Amino acid sequence: MDCFEVTGGTPLRGRVRITGAKNSALKLMAAALLAPGRTTLDEVPDILDVEIMSEVLRRLGCEVTFERYPLEPGGSPSGGGRVLIDVPEQPSSETDYDLVRRMRASISVLGPLVARLGTAKVALPGGDAIGSRGLDMHIAGLERLGATVVNEHGFLIATAPKLVGTSIWLDFPSVGATENLVMAAVLAQGTTIVDNAAREPEIVDLCRMLVAMGARIEGAGTSTITVEGVRDLRPVEYSTVPDRIVAGTWAIGAVMTRGDLVIERAVPEHLTVALEKLVSAGATVEPLADGVRVAMADRPRGVDVVTLPFPGFPTDLQPMAVALAAVSTGTALITENVFEGRFMFVNELVRLGADVRIDGHHAVVRGRERLSSAPVLATDIRAGAGLVLAGLLTDGVTEVQDVRHVDRGYPDFVEQLRGVGVQIERTERPG
Ligand code: UD1
Repeated sequence: MDCFEVTGGTPLRGRVRITGAKNSALKLMAAALLAPGRTTLDEVPDILDVEIMSEVLRRLGCEVTFERYPLEPGGSPSGGGRVLIDVPEQPSSETDYDLVRRMRASISVLGPLVARLGTAKVALPGGDAIGSRGLDMHIAGLERLGATVVNEHGFLIATAPKLVGTSIWLDFPSVGATENLVMAAVLAQGTTIVDNAAREPEIVDLCRMLVAMGARIEGAGTSTITVEGVRDLRPVEYSTVPDRIVAGTWAIGAVMTRGDLVIERAVPEHLTVALEKLVSAGATVEPLADGVRVAMADRPRGVDVVTLPFPGFPTDLQPMAVALAAVSTGTALITENVFEGRFMFVNELVRLGADVRIDGHHAVVRGRERLSSAPVLATDIRAGAGLVLAGLLTDGVTEVQDVRHVDRGYPDFVEQLRGVGVQIERTERPG
């Protein structure tokens, strides 16, 4: 088991550079399946999930290579690289069971495969321990487009000799369902309207790439996305949108530690609510030509946070919001509206001396000046990052265990933390 040993007490100071968003890059890689030939993706994070998605694509018959960007002299590592995907004329339609179970985002090959091949067999995916994470909207949407979807022996099997455009209403603006349905609709016959669609920047990113490939899409970034089907698409070169969750993690870390960080390539418009919360906590937030500066002089004030689909406060930053409240003055109420299991990590935060009481989907957090170091367990990607930030406010060395989860979302995290002044070691211990 890999662990981080984080020494508390140092403010985050200096510059960090953000590469592309995991949650976009994985879908852009799936979208490559829609066109035979070579797709080139830039600013792809060098993380395990990208490796898993590369392997999913390889087993479907694609050739995939990752070229890590060289480190510029004096530059800070961003953990990014370029992915080259060569898609054959006739990819396989069946994904590998053991591989797909390791990562929920593998479900995003379902839409492109049905659209291109008329059939797809995708294992029911796994993912983080943050809630039930159904697939009903993915399935109902594909059925509306004319596919037959059955669940057999751990696989979802979708068949559609022909997909036909239709109107689809999503019960909830699901990111994954919106992406899968748009990727299926781009090659369908006629017009598809997805209503109550997710509006996340990663949806806009995917639609931009699809449009560059020749798709006809309007309304990306709004609640109504209209897709006019085309006969075929061509491969493209495309660069991934910067990771707003990684950027937000750094911003919250700077405020918690009373530091001063320039977060290069962060897009403030993708983090409006989160940055406003930091201003309410007392921080200075300064948008720059290519990034944002976040600085904090005093102990932050506790601020209430409610997670919601974009443009609301992102659920993926909720653990960091709880960690922030745990060291702020006063009491803060954190409300989780997207994933029911997302407060599980709070038990670990409490080990560090945080005063948090959970009531349903609310957390009441009473701030403490300092936390107390202890061994804690990273239960998912974002919880792990929240625990690392909390560790920065402890009085000693906090061991965050099982950090393979953190590695899945934060390329070069240890190197980047060291670059902004943190004493942190990666260690191995018997699991
Ligand atoms: C994506 C992100 C994840 C982020 C989430 C919400 C990736 C790889 N992951 O996950 O980091 O936290 O968006 O911003 O991009 N749901 C259903 N039925 C469905 C689909 C979803 O009930 O068919 C529920 C889920 O259980 C969850 C909610 O809808 O409670 C939101 O899920 P969704 O937006 O689909 O999240 P993901 O795409 O899985």
